[in-house]
Order: sequence, then C-alpha cells, then structure tokens
Amino acid sequence: MLLTFWLRIGFPENRNPLFGPMLLTFWLRIGFPENRNPLFGPMRRGQRRAMQNETPIIIRPSRDADVEPMLAIYRRHIRRGIEAGVEDSGTPQPDDLRDRRKNLRNRRLPHLAATLGGEVVGYAYVVLFRKRPAYRFTVKHSIYVHHDHLGRGIGRLLMQALIDACAAAGFRQMIGYIDAENTASLALHERFGFARVGLLPGVAYRYGKWSDSVMVQRSLGAGATLPAP
Ligand SMILES: CC(C)(COP(=O)(O)OP(=O)(O)OC[C@H]1O[C@@H](n2cnc3c(N)ncnc32)[C@H](O)[C@@H]1OP(=O)(O)O)[C@@H](O)C(=O)NCCC(=O)NCCS
Repeated sequence: MLLTFWLRIGFPENRNPLFGPMLLTFWLRIGFPENRNPLFGPMRRGQRRAMQNETPIIIRPSRDADVEPMLAIYRRHIRRGIEAGVEDSGTPQPDDLRDRRKNLRNRRLPHLAATLGGEVVGYAYVVLFRKRPAYRFTVKHSIYVHHDHLGRGIGRLLMQALIDACAAAGFRQMIGYIDAENTASLALHERFGFARVGLLPGVAYRYGKWSDSVMVQRSLGAGATLPAP
C-alpha cells in the first residue's frame, strides 16, 4: 500500500525567485512503499510476510467442508511436545467437530476459518467460558494457524475478526489460556489488549517437563462498565 503525504510549501511574495510577486503554493504528493518509509519504522513481521504473498487471506465463518483441514491443524499443535504413546481422548473426531460447529452456530458463538487460495490455513472459535447462566456474557477462545503458514499475519486477522464477531454478538469478556512458554501466542494476545490475569503453575506436561498456563482476558464493547442488556 502506498502512504500519501501532502506537503504544503509557501513562499513569501517578495522572496520567490521563480514566480514573481504572487504567493505561490505547491502541493507535493509523495508515495512511499510501506516497507521503505523511513518515518514509520520497520515493517512488522505479519506485514512483511503478507507482502511476499500476494494471495489474500480470507476470514469467513467455517463450513462443514473445513472440518478435516481444521482437525489436521489442531492435531499438529495439540500433540506438540507429547510423547507418541500418550492417549489423546480429548481430540474431537470429525463428527464431533461438525456437531460442535452446528451447536456453536445455533448459539451465535463465532467459529471462523482463514483461507489462502481456498485452502484452510487457520481457524478460531469461542465457547462459553462456563455453562452456568451467570457466565453467559463471557467466552473462552481458541485460535490455531497451520504450521506452514505461521508468522504471515493470519493469527492477527483471525483474532481481530473473532473479537469483532464476539463484540457484535453482545459478549462482554473474552478469556484465553496460553502455555507460559508460547511466546508467539502471548505476544499476539498482548498486541490485542489482553491482560495477564492469572497463572496456573505446573498444569501441563510436555517436552518431558511441567509447564505453566497463563490466563489472559480482555473486555469487549462496554465490558463491565454498563449493566447487561
Ligand atoms: C499463536 C498463533 C495463533 C499466531 O499466529 P500467526 O499467524 O503465526 O501470527 P501472526 O503472524 O498473525 O502474528 C501476530 C502477532 O503475534 C505475535 N507473534 C507471532 N509469531 C511470533 C513469534 N514467533 N514470536 C513472537 N511473537 C510472535 C506478534 O505479536 C505478531 O505481531 P507482529 O507481526 O505485529 O509482530 C500461532 O502461532 C499458532 O497457531 N500457534 C499454535 C496454537 C496456539 O498456541 N494458539 C493460541 C492458544 S489460544
């Protein structure tokens, strides 16, 4: 994208050597490619990668046909650092995920997919933080990007779309749990204004050691400043 600056230069009447006694105004239009503009600092990682890849990333509600690629993305991340022999009773089967999608859609809970050239390269969704009615304005989110497409700004697009969709649906708080060593996810959440509100020590075991989880939270819309509708 080109950034545009308008620069206004005025010469005092009696000092303008070129144009005589008239007060002259020049408008100068200068376009800088974003990555070369010295005034705006270095380009962020996501922007740089997005520019290398001209194909646009589309964020849209997920579909039944996305279930298999979404599960493939999920399995890869969820098995990270876990020994091969450990049973995985929590990973949903394709039918479970199809049911979950329908369920979420019926309850107005966003479930989004990111596609690049028609291929699913990430997804994000929320569930209710707790099922009890008092917690109906609070959601817990998950976001996953395909391991071949990390660092291209897909997580950022998904996060923005998820926040917007949750705010539009009337939710007031968004909560996430992140492995304390997951630098990328911690940075992504910080970038979107999530505060670290809790630490759960030693709750996971991966790469042969115990690890902590960080609980993060941000408000949506009026948050807790206005009564519930
Ligand atoms: C966390 C995750 C979703 C980020 O997705 P991504 O598409 O790679 O991230 P983006 O390229 O959009 O980067 C967005 C921001 O995340 C942060 N980030 C991403 N990768 C990073 C890295 N390797 N190191 C530090 N920060 C990083 C940066 O703040 C970045 O903003 P910037 O580009 O302005 O610097 C992705 O790494 C992922 O799927 N991880 C595994 C699953 C997971 O941990 N999910 C989160 C649990 S809720």
